[in-house]
Amino acid sequence: MITRKSPSELEKMRRSGLLVYSVLQELARMVQVGVTTHELEVVAEKMIRDAGARPAFKGYYVPAAGCKYPYVLCTSVNHEIIHGLPSTKRVLKAGDIVKIDTGVELNGYFGDSAITVPVGEISDSLKKLLQVTQESLELAIAQVKVGNRLFDVSGTVEKHVVTNGFSVVREFVGHGIGTKLHEEPQVPNYVDRQHENPRLKEGMVFAIEPMVNEGKPGSRVLSDKWTAVTTDGRCSAHFEHVVAVTDKGPWVLTRP
Ligand code: MF3
Ligand code: CO
Repeated sequence: MITRKSPSELEKMRRSGLLVYSVLQELARMVQVGVTTHELEVVAEKMIRDAGARPAFKGYYVPAAGCKYPYVLCTSVNHEIIHGLPSTKRVLKAGDIVKIDTGVELNGYFGDSAITVPVGEISDSLKKLLQVTQESLELAIAQVKVGNRLFDVSGTVEKHVVTNGFSVVREFVGHGIGTKLHEEPQVPNYVDRQHENPRLKEGMVFAIEPMVNEGKPGSRVLSDKWTAVTTDGRCSAHFEHVVAVTDKGPWVLTRP
């Protein structure tokens, strides 16, 4: 069942969303050559707790992994797609791209957002990967309106990515969000018969999160049980926003 949120619930989700936004903004400012992903983790945890919130990922049980996620952030570098583990040993270097994904629970409501940040100067092909991924998210957000179906959102991501010569990761998808981090429905970045295609109604809230590979769409999970990487070793980008369906169109809760 897809839960629909009242205006007062959406206001609470807005507060969670803006906290996630401010954390990601601060982390993006911190990213530079020589910084470790652990340093980002420490700052994120402090900001979230200082705001009276709880890091949503830390201790979150993920059935596919069979255990609880141990960190506040997912920090995934280059060919790591998602769920990369922050580490004191992971020093960012010029030309890297780092995906930073985090979530919070504040007053019982969740926020979840991700960005991909360049480290120093990156190649033109990586610039294009980041641009196309971000554009695919913006185009998808514009489809979040009453009268559309979920596959209008999914299909928009897929079309933009494929048209630009990149590929969509299939093993990981977006999700409904509210009083839980992951709610129904699944929000794939492609259209297929395995997923539901509900009509969008006022008060529904979705975390839309295109994961886009430079090369082939394949992914696999490393022996650490978490880090998902591209099978061909080429880079991947990820952007995520939480978006509510309102009578006035899409409302992006995770940015001002
Ligand atoms: N943004 C991702 C998602 O929505 C990361 C959360 S998974 C966790 O699935 F394990 F890190 F919590
Ligand atoms: Co998410």
